[in-house]
Amino acid sequence: MASPITHYSSYLKLNLNHAESSEIISLISRFLFFIIKMLRTHTCGELRLQHINETTTLCGWVQGVRDKGALIWIDLRDRYGITQITIEVEKTDAALIETVRSLGREYVIQVTGIVAERYSKTDKIPTGEIEIIPSQIQILNSAQTPPFTIEDETDGGDELRMKYRYLDLRRNEVRSKLQLRHQVAKATRSFLDSKEFIEVETPVLIKSTPEGARDFVVPSRMNEGQFYALPQSPQTFKQLLMVAGFDRYYQIVKCFRDEDLRADRQPEFTQIDCEMSFIEQEDILNMFEGLAKHLFSEVKGIHIDKLPRITYKEAIENYGSDKPDTRFDMKFKYLKGNGNDLVGGKNFGVFDSAEGVLAINAKGCASYTRKQLDELTEWVKDSKRGMGGLIYMRCENGTYKSSVDKFYSPEDLKHWATLCDATDGDLVLVLSGKISKVQKALGDLRLLMGERIGLRDKNIFSPLWVIDFPLLEFNEEDGRYYAMHHPFTSPKPEDIALLETDPGKVRANAYDMVINGVEIGGGSIRIHNKDLQSRMFDLLGFSKEEAQNQFGFLMNAFEFGAPPHGGLAFGFDRLCSMFGGSESIRDYIAFPKNNSGRDVMIDAPSFIDAKQLKELGLK
Ligand code: AMO
Repeated sequence: MASPITHYSSYLKLNLNHAESSEIISLISRFLFFIIKMLRTHTCGELRLQHINETTTLCGWVQGVRDKGALIWIDLRDRYGITQITIEVEKTDAALIETVRSLGREYVIQVTGIVAERYSKTDKIPTGEIEIIPSQIQILNSAQTPPFTIEDETDGGDELRMKYRYLDLRRNEVRSKLQLRHQVAKATRSFLDSKEFIEVETPVLIKSTPEGARDFVVPSRMNEGQFYALPQSPQTFKQLLMVAGFDRYYQIVKCFRDEDLRADRQPEFTQIDCEMSFIEQEDILNMFEGLAKHLFSEVKGIHIDKLPRITYKEAIENYGSDKPDTRFDMKFKYLKGNGNDLVGGKNFGVFDSAEGVLAINAKGCASYTRKQLDELTEWVKDSKRGMGGLIYMRCENGTYKSSVDKFYSPEDLKHWATLCDATDGDLVLVLSGKISKVQKALGDLRLLMGERIGLRDKNIFSPLWVIDFPLLEFNEEDGRYYAMHHPFTSPKPEDIALLETDPGKVRANAYDMVINGVEIGGGSIRIHNKDLQSRMFDLLGFSKEEAQNQFGFLMNAFEFGAPPHGGLAFGFDRLCSMFGGSESIRDYIAFPKNNSGRDVMIDAPSFIDAKQLKELGLK
């Protein structure tokens, strides 16, 4: 293809060949670069001893000014670092001193001077061996005193920093998190590109996708009374792209869910959304395990071994969670349940009447005081966990002491200890009741004890796949089944017959990638058969009309040659915060919402005026 220069040269009758036009393009870009760089010759993180005696021009923000009378120092900051400007008052022009003394924090200035070796060097910053002796300082813009100090250790509270997020983003600490985000995005694109994935943008004004959360909706002015929904994910579109033959799709994409917020949930968040055709579950697991390994290696410099796989059933039985933190073991032991009974027939009514009695071994915690144990008891009894109480057994000096010694002999307790692999110094914690409820509560207690014992080191990463999720979950309140992942997920072929007899037992070709107790990604093999998809909608309680109305476009597409396909989406913000060693995803988002879903900086959501409401047909 002719370059634009070759193209226009024909108008100018210049008759340039390809090499000549490339040379002109390169000259123009060097010229543009010169113009763009003109306000500065270096960045504030760049200068070293090798630059001594060079004349330099820097631009940046005044981090601070220290005025000692005879000597004045300015710390000049930009995104690359801090450089010290040193002014010897006696040797400096009076007008320049006047300018320096008028500077306030966060003023934007341009400094021209000579790079000099520092008298007192510091290794705290990379430019700590040099300073600039200025000959010229120009104020490019003044600034109000910022509401908090823009330093690594700031005095600003959360809410204040959110309100002035653009100032918070000037802090190294916060900016570096977004730089990490950029790195993760770049490495993701490079990996997926190398595997022939095509990035395709899908629409943001769509019809609701049933992913389990509430939709954010947008009224349509041109279609009065009708609403778009913001996508909870591009799920249906990526499936349509497979029908369209795209074969391998990805998108780093914004998703919107109106759900209760937590540290790892934002109402608008980003996914690395992917889909592939002509694959089986094994192919997807291998491909995205490859992506995870690539990211760990590129971003963290860590080699990850093959990811272990456990079934949903094993995850719940051993850890009480479908997103187990496997940085530490502390698996559940069944004193009663799962074919065991080490507690029955001893006249302890609580255990006798319980469906299950489950224990964990908190290694090295035998020295827990009565007060600490009472605290733990209250913790498991609170409304979130709803346990009746907590039984414990201390293993000390070869003896076993429990809170139920009245009912269980030392010999009985020894059997508990053997099952729990408990030795001197260990504390066995026991919960009883309905097994599913106990699993959940003991899962929480396991995490708490893991944290207290120091087993949840954020610098250790333990990724795994959880596979074989149930296809459906029954909601007691509504008396109906809901799709555990989403309604497009394929049942395991060997379980399809169970759809008619025992739908709750059907397993899905669905999988989650879990790292350190966080669900980082999830996906499934999809149904690509119209009849099976329609049967799924039946099971989920959609009438034929509702199914047609909501998903007719997808079911119709399935009649035009849908390939077998499947995919997954990683939570991009979660992945970044995991790499950054933080539980909260907020800091990894440039302009996040607070816990009530508000953007306190732009003050959204906000009321709109009556005229706008009327125009939208809302009043
Ligand atoms: P799922 O609903 O499991 O699957 O979402 C995929 C991943 O997105 C992340 N995530 C979130 N991150 C931050 N804030 C939230 N509110 C939030 N909700 C979810 C999680 C999660 O694992 N369409 C399917 C994917 C597929 O089947 O291909 C989907 O969206 O890390």
